[in-house]
Amino acid sequence: MLIPDFETRSSRFDDDVVTIIGVRDADGTPELLPTAGAESLADALGALGATGKHGEVTRALLGAAGRTVRVALLGLGSGDPTVDDWRAAAGSAARALGGEPAVAVAVDGLDDALAEQIAIGYTLGAYRFENYRSETKPPIERLVFVVEESGVLASALERARIVSSAVALVRDLVNTPANDLSPANFADLASATVGGLGITTEVLDEAALEAGGYGGLLGVGRGSVRPPRLAVLRWQPQGARVSVALVGKGITFDTGGLSLKPAGSMVGMKFDMAGAAVVVGVMCALAQLQAPVAVTGYLCLAENMPSGEATRPDDVLTMRGGKTVEVTNTDAEGRLVMADALVDASSTHPDAIIDIATLTGAQVVALGNRTTGVMGNDDAWIERVTDAAARVGEPAWRMPIPEEVGKPLESGIADIANARPGNRAAGMLTAAWFLREFVGRTESGEPVPWVHLDIAGPANNDTSAFGLTPKGATGVMTRTLIEALESVGAEGVSPGGVGDPAV
Ligand code: BES
Ligand code: MN
Ligand code: ZN
Repeated sequence: MLIPDFETRSSRFDDDVVTIIGVRDADGTPELLPTAGAESLADALGALGATGKHGEVTRALLGAAGRTVRVALLGLGSGDPTVDDWRAAAGSAARALGGEPAVAVAVDGLDDALAEQIAIGYTLGAYRFENYRSETKPPIERLVFVVEESGVLASALERARIVSSAVALVRDLVNTPANDLSPANFADLASATVGGLGITTEVLDEAALEAGGYGGLLGVGRGSVRPPRLAVLRWQPQGARVSVALVGKGITFDTGGLSLKPAGSMVGMKFDMAGAAVVVGVMCALAQLQAPVAVTGYLCLAENMPSGEATRPDDVLTMRGGKTVEVTNTDAEGRLVMADALVDASSTHPDAIIDIATLTGAQVVALGNRTTGVMGNDDAWIERVTDAAARVGEPAWRMPIPEEVGKPLESGIADIANARPGNRAAGMLTAAWFLREFVGRTESGEPVPWVHLDIAGPANNDTSAFGLTPKGATGVMTRTLIEALESVGAEGVSPGGVGDPAV
């Protein structure tokens, strides 16, 4: 997708743009936000039909310095508008003003943080995936911020460009149908995308996976003519004080395998690689931001298909590292491919592992379509992620991993089973319990700090667009992880403590 040019200018209300002006809802009465030069609109809001309702866009004309210029009154809801209000409303405005090639934003007291988030909201709200359309709509070319003096906002707008591009990349990957995105294609595309940014890539093909004993990836990929891959991306900046492993589920299509999904549940399963896509997007952004945090990304890539060669229920897989798993349901494949990479990630002794996966239908039942489930074994790291999510406006909610949810995974033949047929209790938590079995220990014998994000619901939006979220792939948690890793890189960590630099 094309990202518009972000510009600043000091002149107000020019002819070449539609200028966005904020309106809030003050206890049922629309109220213009302080905007120099637009004062004459204050008394006309009611007559124009503007209410200040969140996301509402009302077009109007404004007489300014003897000319008539176009404005768009943007509703920011009740109360004092927050950065979250502006970000989401900017997304709605982008769709309402979709046909406009150039838009300006005028609000008194615009600072870096606000401009950055408006730019992100507008750009991501305008996102469209048109790679498979014969006719495309013209893109937004310019987003102009009206400022007092020139030269301000430059770095904030550069950050907005990097973050928006990362989210758009994730959405593009997730929206791409599986006939054009096999595990091998994904690995190639990921290497090509990160290659110019100082990130190195190593791709393990099926022979290398065989040699390394990656039974999870191989077992899941076995039914497909398009073999699995493990792509390992490394961003290792000089002077990094923190090292984090990111593990992403990359099932390019999930039919369920021999435990085949019903037709209706299979539609949309091209999105089952969203976790791996987020890892790619986050690493691109961190490299462009020159974030002082070492990140190794593991993309667990396989296509889950039924065939004469496919893994059967009852089969036992020997995973990377030697643990054995009885496959009771081939549709619980995400945890199998993730397990291999969790073992590898643990063996490098990172400060933390964060995994992200469209892992369970149970996540949708528990938390719905917009809220990410957050689990893990380390309070400080879980908080880093949930705090970052709150700062960037992505809903996320911590869930527990109670001991008893692992009980149904006892196997009569292997070390552990991947599912328990007929057991519907706490499926999201059981999947997390399974993954935790593959998180290793640090050199001092403690479990490696680990955070697990289940994005089964929020990774895709199959209703209509809202705020900066379009229909289709959302790119959810990309902004959260960029924020979390950038801030932890800046602060440094020490075991169990937040903010103490470890040198
Ligand atoms: N990719 C699915 C999870 C999923 C389901 C995401 C529905 C979005 C909507 C995953 O691989 C899966 O099939 N999980 C099973 C696990 C079960 C067999 C233990 C599920 O959730 O039903
Ligand atoms: Mn599945
Ligand atoms: Zn899946």
